[in-house]
Amino acid sequence: MSDRKILVTSALPYANGDIHIGHLVEYIQTDVWVRFQKMRGENCRYFCADDTHGAAITISARKKGVSEEEFIADVKEAHTADFAGFGIEFDNYGSTNSPQNRRCCEEIWGKLREAGLIVKREIEQFYDPVEKRFLADRFIKGTCPVCGKKDQYGDSCECGAVYEPTQLIQPKSAISGADLELRKAEHLFVDIEQCHAFLDDWVENSGALQPEVANYLKGQFLSSDLYAWDISRPAPYFGFEIPDFPGNYWYVWYDAPIGYMGSSAQWCEEHGENFDDWWRNPNVEIHHFIGKDITYFHTLFWPTTLKTAGYNLPSKVHIHGFLTVDGEKMSKSKGTFILAKTYLKHLDPSYLRYFFSSKTSGRVDDLDLNLEEMELKVNADLVGVVVNLASRTAKFATTTGLSEVYPDDGGLFAEAASKSEEIAAAYETCDYGKAIRLILECGYRANQYVENNAPWTLNKVWKNLEKDESATVEAREEAKRRLQDVATISLNLFRQIVVYLAPILPDLAKKTENLLNTKITSWNDAQTPLLGVKVNEYVHMMTRVSKEGIQAMIEESKPTLEGKDESAQTSPWNDSAQPLEDEPLADVISIDDFMKVDLRVGRIVEAEQVPEARKLLKLKISLGGTETRQVFAGIKAAYPEPEKLVGRLVAFVANLQPRQMKFGLSEGMIVAAGPGGPDVFVLSPDEGAKPGMRLH
Ligand code: MSP
Ligand code: ZN
Repeated sequence: MSDRKILVTSALPYANGDIHIGHLVEYIQTDVWVRFQKMRGENCRYFCADDTHGAAITISARKKGVSEEEFIADVKEAHTADFAGFGIEFDNYGSTNSPQNRRCCEEIWGKLREAGLIVKREIEQFYDPVEKRFLADRFIKGTCPVCGKKDQYGDSCECGAVYEPTQLIQPKSAISGADLELRKAEHLFVDIEQCHAFLDDWVENSGALQPEVANYLKGQFLSSDLYAWDISRPAPYFGFEIPDFPGNYWYVWYDAPIGYMGSSAQWCEEHGENFDDWWRNPNVEIHHFIGKDITYFHTLFWPTTLKTAGYNLPSKVHIHGFLTVDGEKMSKSKGTFILAKTYLKHLDPSYLRYFFSSKTSGRVDDLDLNLEEMELKVNADLVGVVVNLASRTAKFATTTGLSEVYPDDGGLFAEAASKSEEIAAAYETCDYGKAIRLILECGYRANQYVENNAPWTLNKVWKNLEKDESATVEAREEAKRRLQDVATISLNLFRQIVVYLAPILPDLAKKTENLLNTKITSWNDAQTPLLGVKVNEYVHMMTRVSKEGIQAMIEESKPTLEGKDESAQTSPWNDSAQPLEDEPLADVISIDDFMKVDLRVGRIVEAEQVPEARKLLKLKISLGGTETRQVFAGIKAAYPEPEKLVGRLVAFVANLQPRQMKFGLSEGMIVAAGPGGPDVFVLSPDEGAKPGMRLH
């Protein structure tokens, strides 16, 4: 046992969605690192939790018709199953909505108050009068102030413009659709600028950050005054109420990183450990693994919080890039937004652990998953090189077991053993790609050995001697011993590689333990050959990646008819794909074609039932002045009380050939959406439009 004591965390996944393969970049990277440290004999613990607070949770819970507590309990169960499926082993997986976390939050809050870092300010924010709550930017939609596109988020538009929600034209609540009010409210802020000098020093000198991250922070944040951090939210809010500011809650990002402590505290309680021995012990290394999108929470606010509250600072914040699939952002429509559980239905998790690791360098670059590349790499390296060693040789040792003395292998085992520290150093710096390259070199040499010594030929020689009545006992024994020796060497070279790969492929390590009747517990298991043990019947250790499996996984990840689409993951609207499925987009037309249709704003000035007609209403449309048109519209089922339509502005097709109907002449058409029957929705222009204006 060495003397390092290491506390490791991964970012806490939001409790409002499933785990997907993008998340797994991080959890696999961390799990490999933790397994490596444990094999090295370090006292290393891995803590994580669900990030359960915030407005988004309330909205998701309501959509499902359950309480927030029920909602996050279900999500936790699903997350836990996904992680287990990929072999991610936490020492504790908690929840930010735990009593331990609340205690940590309160304790730290007291320290921030004492240090004078908490200031109160009045701010103006949009308020949804229907929902009776203030809204975060992503729950506000309106017209882009730059390009005029409708239905854009509160902070940015598809056109690339970035703005404040107050700049949106006609801002509306994305939850209730209500018009928003600007209201004043008091919020608490952490005045992080007071710690500017400390942060300058920590970022520059602590060695906790990758150089590119330190440069980014210096350039983007530390070169000017740091904004105070808005840390409270008025009720209603799903979270912890602030003890000395009743009716207000800590913003989710306050209690989320403290969730690392909450989860550790829970583990300490269950294991009789002292919390401060982990978080206030200068001999403990704290390692956070996070994605680049949440850098500033972990490298500015979090160190400030820890420092002020008298805790250890992180030894390292390991920041990784984002996952792309085939060079692009994960996409639902392309079937590359792959959920952990979908992957597990079709493919072996070892493939992804191996492939991600081969692409992990310890830098912040994005990482690309090319599924064909994964297939080729796994088949070539793992099946072709690593597992091949065992599958070709194990059967020759099942009757004899391994030799009692390690035979002469020309120095192969010793050479691979001597790589131990170089491979370990690569793991330590998260350069798993390099570790794999070094390990594979051992694998190539081992396969060469098997080729050169052809145990299958030795086996024939021995079997023939056994049948040959003139052969001496000595000759038979000698042939048997030669075969046993070659198998012993091959299986030991195999096991050595499996030990080195065990942090990445724990499942392969398990199967190797079973084959050779011996546990793999320590990194040093690669230093000494295994001798004299029984060898079990070989059972398949890994199958080749199948194209069909990949294809099926992609198909299952595509949007389904139930209307799961891209926006289900990225927006709270959850718009269904059904309408487009029902009526696919039409062929392209020219602008001239479009301009042939004379669309006008019209006002419904009369609307009445046509008693004999099942579906029709009779409307009189004014185009301004004295211009009016009579229209029979098939909207009766949707608008059973026609008098309510009177006065409404509509979009009107003004140059449609008039048509003589049973009840009179129809001189145009009003524009409506929907499949028909009661599902017809008449369109109206925004306020300000005048009858007679052309639509274009
Ligand atoms: N809840 C916050 C973290 C709080 S930590 C105190 C959060 N949750 S998350 O679910 O959105 O992301 C969890 C982690 O997964 C983050 O580190 C994030 O960067 C990472 N990833 C999420 N999607 C990812 C990719 N597509 N690619 C790589 N990592 C990604 O952020
Ligand atoms: Zn725009």
